[in-house]
Amino acid sequence: MRNGIITGWGKCVPPAVLSNSDLETVTDTSDDWITTRTGIKERRISHVEMSDLSAIAAERAMAAAGVAAEDLDLILVATCSPDRLVPSASTIVQAKIGASNAAGMDLNAACSGFLFALSTADQMIKTGAMHTVLIVGAEKLSHWLDFSNRSTSVLFGDGAGAVIVQAADDQPDRGLLAFEIGSDGTAGDLLCVPASGTEGSADRTELPTFLMEGQEVFRRAVKSMGDASGRVLESAGLDLEDVDLLIPHQANVRIIDATARRLNLPPEKVYINIASYGNTSAATIPIAIVEALEDGKIQPGSVIVFAAFGAGFTWAAGAYRWGARVEALAVSDAELPPNDKTALELLAGNIAIHGTGV
Ligand SMILES: CC(C)(COP(=O)(O)OP(=O)(O)OC[C@H]1O[C@@H](n2cnc3c(N)ncnc32)[C@H](O)[C@@H]1OP(=O)(O)O)[C@@H](O)C(=O)NCCC(=O)NCCS
Repeated sequence: MRNGIITGWGKCVPPAVLSNSDLETVTDTSDDWITTRTGIKERRISHVEMSDLSAIAAERAMAAAGVAAEDLDLILVATCSPDRLVPSASTIVQAKIGASNAAGMDLNAACSGFLFALSTADQMIKTGAMHTVLIVGAEKLSHWLDFSNRSTSVLFGDGAGAVIVQAADDQPDRGLLAFEIGSDGTAGDLLCVPASGTEGSADRTELPTFLMEGQEVFRRAVKSMGDASGRVLESAGLDLEDVDLLIPHQANVRIIDATARRLNLPPEKVYINIASYGNTSAATIPIAIVEALEDGKIQPGSVIVFAAFGAGFTWAAGAYRWGARVEALAVSDAELPPNDKTALELLAGNIAIHGTGV
């Protein structure tokens, strides 16, 4: 049986750091509140476009896999903050990395986007339609930060992660063993960015920013991620004891802890890096994959459960058995252009538009 195996991985986080103490100067909050209520200590603010973050993460993933840009036959970019709606982020990334033989496709499932893309790549590979797929999860959510709203402006950040998924005929029990993707569009208004597309264009009065019912999102995220993870384990014929690592979407450390408790997983089997990056939506899981590999938390044959929840609402989970290799085949020398601004300087435009909360 043909399977899709992750053979390369790379991340790109922009250098400018927005700390909780920086936030204290522009919104009515405190390091203590943000740390205890969310687990976030800092997040990154990008000085370049989301497609630039994506292209560097992609270059690093291709090097790790030993794959050239011309080898790619599909690029899936999971994002809800593309540079432009037209053309697609995936075609912009395609041009930046020179993947002339690939088809490009964007996928917006908000924070669940990377797992929707992984499932899509897996199925395209299993049918034989595709052989080598680049998946990027990338966001520039700082674009929508409004510091007059303290309940959303402390949560989000920028970043990109990428993986290469390749067809393998000789690893029957590896790759994505089972997955679930789901949506509930009736809950769309509970987490959204109004007027971020073409709606209301005739009488637009406000610039886009996040709207969120935090407590309902919290409740639904724990239930959806916990229950979907249990179901994919069952579909894959695995028990909880078989799981080596849970890599959940990083939205709030309390959501992650509650999800792990719902699954009965001990803390040492849960990967958490939210303190460094905040919620980077579709990018959290691929960034976490890269860092879990760097930390030695993923070994050949490790059983990983992925789980995510996001705007839509959308949710997804996957039971994944890692392949034979956990070391990169090569390291890319691709780098972002240098940045000489602080995170707050990069956010001056947001502050000019929305004001502050202090
Ligand atoms: C947003 C979130 C952190 C808020 O935490 P919470 O414990 O639910 O807090 P509440 O909304 O009940 O607010 C509690 C108090 O803190 C205040 N507060 C909210 N944000 C604050 C901030 N950044 N700093 C200080 N105080 C804040 C509220 O105004 C409220 O004050 P009050 O009691 O005087 O009215 C939490 O609901 C959450 O993480 N939800 C999910 C968000 C998410 O993950 N979104 C993306 C999904 S992919």
